[in-house]
Amino acid sequence: MADYDLVIRGGTVANACATFTADIGIRDGRIAALGLGLTGGRETIDATGKYVLPGGIETHCHIEQESATGAMTSDDYYTGSVSAAFGGNTTIVPFAAQHRGQSIADVVRLYDDRAGPKSVIDYSYHLIVTDPTEAALKDELPAAFARGITSFKVFMTYDKMIVSDEQMLDILKMARDNGGLTMVHAENNALIKWMVRRLTERGYTQPKYHAVSHPAASEVEAVRRGIALASFVEAPLLFVHISTDAGARAIADARMDGRMIFGETCPQYMFLTANDLDRPGAEGGKFCCSPPLRDVKTQTDMWRHLNAGSLQLYSSDHAPYRFDETGKLSAGPNPPFNRIANGMPGIELRAPLLFSEGVNKGRISLNTFVALTATNAARLFGMDDRKGAIAIGYDADIAIWDPDKAVEVTAGGMHDNMDYTPFEGWELKGWPVTVINRGRRIVDGGELKARAGDGEFLARKPFDPTGFLPPRAPEMNTATNFGADLF
Ligand code: URP
Ligand code: ZN
Ligand code: ZN
Repeated sequence: MADYDLVIRGGTVANACATFTADIGIRDGRIAALGLGLTGGRETIDATGKYVLPGGIETHCHIEQESATGAMTSDDYYTGSVSAAFGGNTTIVPFAAQHRGQSIADVVRLYDDRAGPKSVIDYSYHLIVTDPTEAALKDELPAAFARGITSFKVFMTYDKMIVSDEQMLDILKMARDNGGLTMVHAENNALIKWMVRRLTERGYTQPKYHAVSHPAASEVEAVRRGIALASFVEAPLLFVHISTDAGARAIADARMDGRMIFGETCPQYMFLTANDLDRPGAEGGKFCCSPPLRDVKTQTDMWRHLNAGSLQLYSSDHAPYRFDETGKLSAGPNPPFNRIANGMPGIELRAPLLFSEGVNKGRISLNTFVALTATNAARLFGMDDRKGAIAIGYDADIAIWDPDKAVEVTAGGMHDNMDYTPFEGWELKGWPVTVINRGRRIVDGGELKARAGDGEFLARKPFDPTGFLPPRAPEMNTATNFGADLF
C-alpha cells in the first residue's frame, strides 16, 4: 500500500519564514511528511525547477453579492472560486452582506445556500454589517462568531451602509468582547458628497472625476478617526483597501504604539493610476473603484508599506461588474461617475501580478510573497491552525508556480464571468501551474479538475490579540473605575 496519496518531489518549498528544498508527502488531504527522497506516493508530481508554495488565501472579494444599490456581482460562487483557483488560491473569504432590515442569521443562511453547492475551493465569509441593531450586537453577531464567521466589515461612507461614530464604538466593543475582527472601509462620507455635488453641478461628470471626488484627505481623515475610536475601546481594527501613503503611515504609527490596527492594500493601487479613469468615452468607468486609483508615487509607497509590514494584507477587492447594462453601464451608455458601480475584477491576477512585478523584479522576496498571499491572512482571520503554510499536519493547500512561465493577460483568458480585465495586454512572468486544495488537484495543466461544491466551509478561530500591548491606557483606567462594563 502506498504511504501517501500524493508526493510532490524536487521543488523549492517556501513559507513566509524560510525557503528550502523538500519533497512533500500528502495523505488524507493533509501534509503528512516533508523530507528528502520521499517515495511511496500513489501519485507523484515532479516539481523540479518550480516553487511549491502555500495556496493563496484571498480575503477581500465580492462574490454573488448584491450591492446596496441592488447591483449583483457578475461572478457567483462557481465562477468566482474557479477564477480564484486558476490564480493560485485554495481559500476565499468573500463578503456576506447585510442590507438594512435583514437579520444577520438570514444573511448567513442566504450565503450558505449560495456558496455551499458551488464553491470549488474552501471558503468562509466576512459579514458586512449595515444595521447594527441591539439584536445584531447582543445576539446575532456573537452567534455568527461562534459559528466561525469571526470577521465583518463596516462602512464609514455610502449613505445606505454608513455607520455613525457612536455605532462604530458599539460595534468595536462588541467585537473586542466576543473575539471578532472589525474591518472598515474608511472614507469621509461628507467630504465625498460635498465634492460629488460640486463636481456634478458644474458638469464634471466623466469617470476621471470619480478620483477627484474621493481625495486622499477623505481616506486619511477616516483612517485617523477609525484609529482613535478603536484605540479608545482597545479593539482590533483592520483598514481594507488602503490607497494613500498617509493612511498607511497612520496605521504604522498606531501599530508602533501597540494598537491592534491592521491594513490592507490591493493590486489596483500598485499597478494602475487615476490616468486609467481618463480612457476614451465611458471606458474609464471600468476603473472606477473606491477608494479610487491614485498616482505613480502611491504605487511605490504601497510596495514600501508592504515590505515594511505597515500593511499586512494584499487582496484583490475583486468586485466584478461587467461593462454592460447589467453592471458598469446600468445607468446608460455614458453614465456620470457617481452612477457607475464601484469595483473591478482581479481575483485571478492578484497573486500572478505580485509574483511577476514583485518576486521576479526583485521588489519583494519569495517569503514576503507567501506572507502577503497566504500566511498573514491565515493569521489575521483565524485560519493559521491549518492554512497558510507548508507544515506537517496542515491542509495540503499548495500552489506549484513555474517562475518562468510567461502569460499575456486577456479578458478571454480569465475564468471569471467578466467581459474585461483592467490588466488587458500585460505580460506577466511566473504562473501557478498546479493548484491543490486539501490534497485534491483542482487546477492542473491549464484545466479545472474540481467540481462545484468540492470546497468546504471553514469555521475560523476568534481574533487573537497576542503580541499587542496589554490593555488599558491610563485614561481608560480612570473611566473603568465608574463601572466594569462601561467599556
Ligand atoms: O469599489 C470597490 N472597492 N467596490 C467594492 C466594495 C468595497 O467597498 O470594497
Ligand atoms: Zn470597501
Ligand atoms: Zn471590497
